[in-house]
Parts: sequence; structure tokens; C-alpha cells
Amino acid sequence: MAKDPVIDFDISKSLSMVFATPLVVHDWPDSEAFNADLSKLVLAREKEHAAKDVVRSNAGGWQSPGNLMKWQDPVIEAFRQRIEMLTGSLLKALVRDASSDRSFKLLIDAWANINRSGDYNVAHTHPNCMWSGCYYVSPGKPDPGVTWNGLIELFDPREAANYIQVSNTILDARTIIDNVPGRMLFWPSWIRHMVHPYIGEGERISIAFNVNVIEKDR
Ligand SMILES: [Fe+2]
Repeated sequence: MAKDPVIDFDISKSLSMVFATPLVVHDWPDSEAFNADLSKLVLAREKEHAAKDVVRSNAGGWQSPGNLMKWQDPVIEAFRQRIEMLTGSLLKALVRDASSDRSFKLLIDAWANINRSGDYNVAHTHPNCMWSGCYYVSPGKPDPGVTWNGLIELFDPREAANYIQVSNTILDARTIIDNVPGRMLFWPSWIRHMVHPYIGEGERISIAFNVNVIEKDR
């Protein structure tokens, strides 16, 4: 039988991905009590700050001021540890000289988001930051008949990516991620993203955050 020249060509040693865009989707285990505490705390804050005086990306909904990391509550300290663990591990995975002794200080700010039926977040980036992320506290009770109900979508930052018109490859440009309680997302702050409208009962609660990284002793 004739050899297939494509099958016999081993491209793996000749191929690399340049201009990579890291995306972390991490599900923290055993988060039920943690999420219940966060949910209680965020809903209480909303009541205290009933005036919708902070508007960032939200169309409707409530966003807290960006000082969530300073809220005096043990659950916030545990939340900080989760961000630090994830960011530290990612940096370790990304640096080229992982064997050297490098350490980083993280500057974190965060804010809570509550979306109720009809609320959404317009497409935006997080300017003046390095890394951004989101943690899902509660998906609410989204109407299952609504497409992408309350889900985040990240947009391909390469304007011309759709020049390659071969569908169902790793170059496909849309990334929509399920809203699972305990899930933490993390991406470079320059990735544009939006949250599709939430249609359903109750509240969709999430916490967004930014992380700037300062290398120590450099
Ligand atoms: Fe955002």
C-alpha cells in the first residue's frame, strides 16, 4: 500500500505556538461552605451600599467598590490565598528560567458582581493591569432555554484570526466558559470579554479581580 505522505510527516518537532494567550480555568474543590459565606457577605454589602454608584462593565446589576480584598472577613483571606496560589503556579509555569530563585509580590484588587434577570456586562478589557480573573460564587437559577445564559465570552485578541477559514480547529476564535460555582478563571488583562445577559430567578454572583505582579529584588 502506498504511504500517506501527510501521516508519515512528523511535524511535532518543527511546531511551536508563538504569541501564546494563557487561560486558566481552575475548579477549586470543596467550595460549598466557602461560596455560601461569600454569597452572604456580598449580598449584605449590596444592602449596605444599595445605591448603584459603581458602574464599570455592568449593564444593570450591582458591582461593589474595588476594595473587596480589604473587607474584614476570614473568607476574604481564604479567597486571597486561592488567587495567590493560582497566580504563583502560573508564573512558575510561564517563566523560562524556572530553576532560578525568583519571587513575586502580587497587588490584588477585587470587586463583587451581582447580576439579576436582564443584567449583563458589556465587552471590555481591564486597562492598566497585568492579569485579570473571575471567581464564580453562585450561578443563580438561569433559565435553561436561554443560550449562553449568564456566561462569560472571551474574544480572540488577534484581529485577523478568522482569516484561517478551516472550522473546528484549535484556531477557532470564540471561547465561552461555563459558570460553575468554585471555578476560577484567569487571563491576561488585555483580553476583551463580556458576560451574556442573565435570565432567571435569584442572583448570579461572581467576584472579579486584577493582579499586578512585581518581581522582588529586581
Ligand atoms: Fe471584566
